[in-house]
Amino acid sequence: MSNTIKIGVLGCGTVGSQVVRLLGERKDDLQARAGAKLEITGISVGRVDAPRDPWVPREKLTSDSEKVVYEADLVIELIGGIEPARTLITRALSAGKSVVTGNKALLAAHGTALFDLAREKGADLYYEAAVAGAVPVVYGLRESLAGDRVESVMGIVNGTTNYILDQMSTQNWSYEQALSSAQQLGYAEADPTADVEGLDAAAKCALLAQLAFHTRVSLADVSVKGISHLTIDDITDAASQGYALKLLAIAQRVTDEDGQEAITCRVEPTLIDRSNPLSNVDGAFNAIVIDAEAAGRLMFYGQGAGGVQTASAVLGDVVAAAFHLAHGGAAPQESAYASLPYLPTAETYGAARIRLQIRDELGVLEQVAGVFAKNGVSLRQVSQSQSKDGKADLALSTQKALRSKLEQTVSELTGLPGVLGIRQMLQIH
Ligand code: HSE
Repeated sequence: MSNTIKIGVLGCGTVGSQVVRLLGERKDDLQARAGAKLEITGISVGRVDAPRDPWVPREKLTSDSEKVVYEADLVIELIGGIEPARTLITRALSAGKSVVTGNKALLAAHGTALFDLAREKGADLYYEAAVAGAVPVVYGLRESLAGDRVESVMGIVNGTTNYILDQMSTQNWSYEQALSSAQQLGYAEADPTADVEGLDAAAKCALLAQLAFHTRVSLADVSVKGISHLTIDDITDAASQGYALKLLAIAQRVTDEDGQEAITCRVEPTLIDRSNPLSNVDGAFNAIVIDAEAAGRLMFYGQGAGGVQTASAVLGDVVAAAFHLAHGGAAPQESAYASLPYLPTAETYGAARIRLQIRDELGVLEQVAGVFAKNGVSLRQVSQSQSKDGKADLALSTQKALRSKLEQTVSELTGLPGVLGIRQMLQIH
């Protein structure tokens, strides 16, 4: 039992700075809620002399992150990335200290070892801020739905890419223009590759799937496609069909060919009907729809990126961990007892929209349709745009088919003499 909890903050960037501000400004409320005084003992940063927000206490800044961990009862890790975050968190947990982190990349890659260590040492490891910023979906899955059976989790979990797709569609901005604006607004990671190539969303998908299905899921189990290959034409075509184009993270309980229960996880740009509530999630907002056996459909919605919003999630975890340090009790531990097998995305079923450029010649449509038929992929809709210079655009929507067959179809279409190129293939949900 302790009346003062010493807090070490690792990293003082967009989120860290807001955490420091709120720990100071709300100290009385936080003390009342945690049942102990929360005192920042050190803040580790890369450059002590770099410009900082005015509320950051400069006398607490240090480049010695080991010392910050050593002196703290509770460590807040907001550095991001694998190292040195992994070493520092390992050191904190090994010493039985509580850890609050927003590091999805680290947990998706090395969560197993860290969760095992936390269990062994009886230390709290909290990570609400790692998924969907301020949205309390980790708590929802881990605690509120602990008694239910989750069937699927589907959502928009990356604010940067949602903002980019939204601006491309509503403002007619180019991809580059929208990305640069997302960076200026502080949504994108320092290196936006993780956002736009879907890796940030995939790490979050792995964490959500792990919580939903009580099964260890790592980044390598999630099939990933990002948004950097998308164009305005994709968005225009989607709109013409009554769809919105969103980068979705989808984790589902499925049945494999032998009737065995399995799970599948993917992140990819997906066409969704305008009647789907996820189609109205705009800007940097995140939303996650969870289908559970008893609860039915739940939707979590809110700000998935941004410093102060993510700081809210960090502080919620800090209060819980500090309460345990002051009064006893412990955070829920990782639950992976179900150990469901993972079904590769290629072995799951989905519908697709495929756009091609073709020669506008007699018999080309027949060639194209023949490839679909040969692969057992049934077509639902076909449309050809006006011909120009002997070339035309062809767009086809399929019925649900085995994804490996859809990929095979596209690969065979590429080899047809009448097909000049594949413009895009997108999944329809
Ligand atoms: N860069 C992330 C996003 C926020 O755009 O959603 C932190 O995960």
